[in-house]
Amino acid sequence: MLRIIRWSALGLIAVLLVAWVAVWSGVFGGSGSQASLPGGVQVGGPFTLTDTRGQTVTDASFRGNWMLVYFGYTYCPDVCPTELQAVAASMDKLGPLAAKVTPVFITVDPDRDTSATLSEYVKLFDDRLVGLTGTPQQIATVAKEYRVYYAKVTPKDSSTYLMDHSSFLYLMGPDGQLRTLFKQGTSGSDIADAIRTRMNAS
Ligand code: NI
Repeated sequence: MLRIIRWSALGLIAVLLVAWVAVWSGVFGGSGSQASLPGGVQVGGPFTLTDTRGQTVTDASFRGNWMLVYFGYTYCPDVCPTELQAVAASMDKLGPLAAKVTPVFITVDPDRDTSATLSEYVKLFDDRLVGLTGTPQQIATVAKEYRVYYAKVTPKDSSTYLMDHSSFLYLMGPDGQLRTLFKQGTSGSDIADAIRTRMNAS
């Protein structure tokens, strides 16, 4: 019986992984720094999370402003800091238009990333960067809506874990709908240019 359960669990994981790859494989077909999603794939949705002051915020709290959303974690050794530096650079490049954009960092490691930890971390990049955490369930919900993959991994000979996570930057419009996605490694000026273009188009 136990073996059946174990195999079913493995099967379920395999199915989920294939589904995830199927959704994202279209993304890599996008041209340049912006990625495109296959038609009909919904990204984003309602969430309830906690900000760095310990206040509850929802997706509606950001409505009316553009949102630049990134998922990661403060212990991330390389990718997250690089991406957040690009986000900060894009805010600088936007000049006065930056007032219409809220950069948001959502942790995929709620066990370690408390409001206080996030508060210190986001300040390292930009005062305007909003750090959000939540219960593991709240994080799982928002990650699912944004099609974010994340998983705990413990390297050999290590007592602490890392988080494996997908790395896209999401531009959401003032209506909360996805406008475009940026691939990992997009420069701050390319991000700013794309935001400006999208703002002019709306
Ligand atoms: Ni990271």
